[in-house]
Amino acid sequence: MKALLSILFISMSTLLFAQEFNLPALPYSYSSYEPYIDAQTMEIHHGKHHQAYVTNLNKALAGTKLASFSMNQLLMDASFRSDAIRNNAGGHYNHSLFWEILAPKDKLTSVQASFEAAINAQYGSMDSLKKALTQAASTRFGSGWAWLIVTPDKKLMVTSTGNQDNPIMDVTKDRGIPILGIDVWEHAYYLKYQNKRGDYLSGIFNLIDWGIVSEKYTKALVDPLLSEIEKENWMALKDFHKVMAQTFHPCEDGNFVPLRTRSGELLAKAILFSASKPPVSKDKPNVHKALADLEEQCEKIHELVGKNAKDEVLLKEMTKAHDLFHQVEELCHD
Ligand SMILES: [Fe+2]
Repeated sequence: MKALLSILFISMSTLLFAQEFNLPALPYSYSSYEPYIDAQTMEIHHGKHHQAYVTNLNKALAGTKLASFSMNQLLMDASFRSDAIRNNAGGHYNHSLFWEILAPKDKLTSVQASFEAAINAQYGSMDSLKKALTQAASTRFGSGWAWLIVTPDKKLMVTSTGNQDNPIMDVTKDRGIPILGIDVWEHAYYLKYQNKRGDYLSGIFNLIDWGIVSEKYTKALVDPLLSEIEKENWMALKDFHKVMAQTFHPCEDGNFVPLRTRSGELLAKAILFSASKPPVSKDKPNVHKALADLEEQCEKIHELVGKNAKDEVLLKEMTKAHDLFHQVEELCHD
């Protein structure tokens, strides 16, 4: 009876917290983007391709614990997700952004001063930025996207990804928050431009609403997602966390074998973690102090394991190490 109630509770919570992703409406009619993108391409692209990403994403998430995850959570840990979730979550996110930053010529809004200043500071001019984007889009082999992103150090960067990946995902080298994306899948242009991707790219710059991209830039600068990405990029933290989780959590359940066999590895990761260079914004004396304390604690644990210390002693010292790790993590929050 108890088991039945638990199953019922889990199913109800999944139902209560599960969210369905939906196809966003296009801000303008399919024909509004003519002559640069023809109405039929827009209709198929939005109504069929994007709809398929949404449908398949919901299907892949249904009934799993991931159904309650936000889009950012799904994207951030893409390397842990199934291909169905990685491709369709990416497809949904990327296209939603694409529709937002496009507008018919008579509805375009102008670039904002702070964003323009950032473009000029990094690229020299808007024209040079467009050239960099065109270069990234035209050299992307096969299907994919060209991006303008805000990186964790709050700089602009032009980059590109294959398939439906994007720069929020942990599978990409250049990570950050996308503020502009250009779809270079053939489904985005083939009906009108056939194989001439270059002509499509020249056309699309007539539809990019730099006012909207400016708003996205301003929002990205203060988005907590930036510091999440920055923290994730700190590989030494990830490496240490993995061994800590695999040794500490079994101890909590009374299984000390992983710790007794891997305390040397835990210490080695702590030494590397302590010696690693934190991301620029986290490079502070209190973070280094917490890292040094953590290393010392792991050394103590390794010695205790060597002396065959009792389980309860190890649990106490591992709890301290775990608390120290979270202290480092918390210091890394802005
Ligand atoms: Fe597309």
